[in-house]
Amino acid sequence: IDEDGRKRFDLTMQEGTSEFLPGQETATWGVNGAYLGPTMRLERGDDVAMNVTNDLPETSTLHWHGMRVPAAMDGGPHQQIEPGQAWSPEWTVDQPAASLWYHPHLHGATAEHVYRGVAGMIIVEDDDVTEGLPNDYGVDDLPLLVQDRSFRSDGELDLNATGPLWMQATYGLMGDQILVNGTHDPYFEVESERVRLRVLNGSNTRSMNFGFDDDRAFQLVGTDTGLLPAPVELDRIRLSPGERAEIVVDFDPGDDVVLRSYAPKQAGSFAEDRLAGADDEFDILRLTAAGELTPGEPIPAELATTPEITPPEDATERVFTLGGTAHINGASMDMSRIDEVVPAGATEIWTIENPSVVHNFHIHDVAFRVLDIDGVEPPPELTGRKDTVYVAPNTSVRIAVEFGEHVDPEAPYMYHCHLLEHEDQGMMGQFLVV
Ligand code: C2O
Ligand code: CU
Ligand code: CU
Repeated sequence: IDEDGRKRFDLTMQEGTSEFLPGQETATWGVNGAYLGPTMRLERGDDVAMNVTNDLPETSTLHWHGMRVPAAMDGGPHQQIEPGQAWSPEWTVDQPAASLWYHPHLHGATAEHVYRGVAGMIIVEDDDVTEGLPNDYGVDDLPLLVQDRSFRSDGELDLNATGPLWMQATYGLMGDQILVNGTHDPYFEVESERVRLRVLNGSNTRSMNFGFDDDRAFQLVGTDTGLLPAPVELDRIRLSPGERAEIVVDFDPGDDVVLRSYAPKQAGSFAEDRLAGADDEFDILRLTAAGELTPGEPIPAELATTPEITPPEDATERVFTLGGTAHINGASMDMSRIDEVVPAGATEIWTIENPSVVHNFHIHDVAFRVLDIDGVEPPPELTGRKDTVYVAPNTSVRIAVEFGEHVDPEAPYMYHCHLLEHEDQGMMGQFLVV
């Protein structure tokens, strides 16, 4: 807290060395450390002052994914930080409790910068709705930043892991090793009966489908940008890159279970499933429970008090067609072109059509609700507040988008596919809020 009462964070993007695989050194990038960055805890109402220094050898940016911020503070492709320079955005947190994250967003280099390790989580708390859920950080409330990576035989990150260039361009950089919070082969010793996991798929391009190896059920309590109105019981939750899920899991003394990613499917054809990793399965995190556990409180039957996002009768509708791996509505990202202009505070209906390969869709500065997928009501895990949604090949997803109130006639926000190689290839557009 500084003298003006602002919560101040000094973040330095830097180079470092990590040991993920035993005896192997890997050159990595991180924030205030060699790989990834600190989890930041913010409360609704906080005045935040960031100071981001770029000690990397390249220009980069730092974007607050899921955060409602003025466009000039968003850390998108326009807020570049040159090597040796600093950038100091400020804003007031005003949004419901959620698990957000931060990562670079330099156009054309986002995939590489994230892959090297620049990312971290942000926890937003909001008094009236956080009570009753496990919230003892690192004890019964854990962020899980899950990423796939590939390593060369000399231990270095393999930036060409997917094979021929056309394949990498289409399916992105997919790794065959899993890191959780920057740890390979991780485990966690559970000490409470009830644990909240804030799961983020921080992979560049790989979708994951999380569940436990004993198929135990868990309660989904939150999605990207907020808690659900009530917990939803599930045994699998699919997250495409950038999506988050807060789940609460119950343990018995002595339990020994593995959180896994099961075949995420839905990539399309048989061949497409192979290439897009839709058949791949991984162990994510082993959880072993102590012989005696701290009793957990029951999960509240009602969670979020935020009203459901509801478009007005005469809502503006827009259609976005994802084409190939580099276009939206036939155009590739142009930093000097504004694609859409949205009135501040509007709730609009956006339709995302995908006649092509695996994609998802993310919008900055908003929360949205999935209205339907190919005209069918979404499953319960997609009914909450979100900022990123999976769009399977040959489907169309309709969302009700709640835009923010920060007006700027010049600085745009982004919408894009969050498969980072696609984003870098130009599958991104810009909108102004006026
Ligand atoms: Cu997570 Cu435009 O980004
Ligand atoms: Cu974002
Ligand atoms: Cu895509």
